[in-house]
Amino acid sequence: MLDPVGSVCAEIGEEPVRRAVAAFYRRVTDDALLRPMYPDGDLAAAEQRLAGFLVGRFGGSDEYVRERGHPRLRMRHARFVIDGVARDRWMELMTAALDEVDFPAPQRTRVVAFLGDVATMLVNRG
Ligand code: HEM
Repeated sequence: MLDPVGSVCAEIGEEPVRRAVAAFYRRVTDDALLRPMYPDGDLAAAEQRLAGFLVGRFGGSDEYVRERGHPRLRMRHARFVIDGVARDRWMELMTAALDEVDFPAPQRTRVVAFLGDVATMLVNRG
């Protein structure tokens, strides 16, 4: 498959993706390492950006690109110190969130591989 995640929303809809991102941010709220990295107190806006990006990347609505333009994720993460520990914690919270919402298994495998690759690409320290 050329783009393993490009059809995820066609297969399972957008709802599981949005529910997983909501579950992820509930975990960020309680996380001593990640919580301080989110600049404004309003995690709801950050949740909307991540959900919009993922839904678009997974072939669903293109709200993210309409509102934010090209993602340029490496540039937009440059002001945060992301080392291997932070990367692993992000993935740990996200995989726990996918479990919490019972994200469908065949798609979960592809989504986790995609998220892991992007997370590794975003490491900018150490
Ligand atoms: C490696 C660990 C990561 C850390 C510590 C991290 C941290 C952050 C922080 C602190 C923000 C700012 C919140 C905001 O939007 O106001 C952010 C934004 C964002 N992150 Fe991450 N992130 C990580 C990985 C990822 C991954 C794997 C993805 C996508 C697969 C992602 C996608 C995004 C998006 C789309 C935004 C909003 C960008 C914008 O439009 O400004 N992040 N991230």
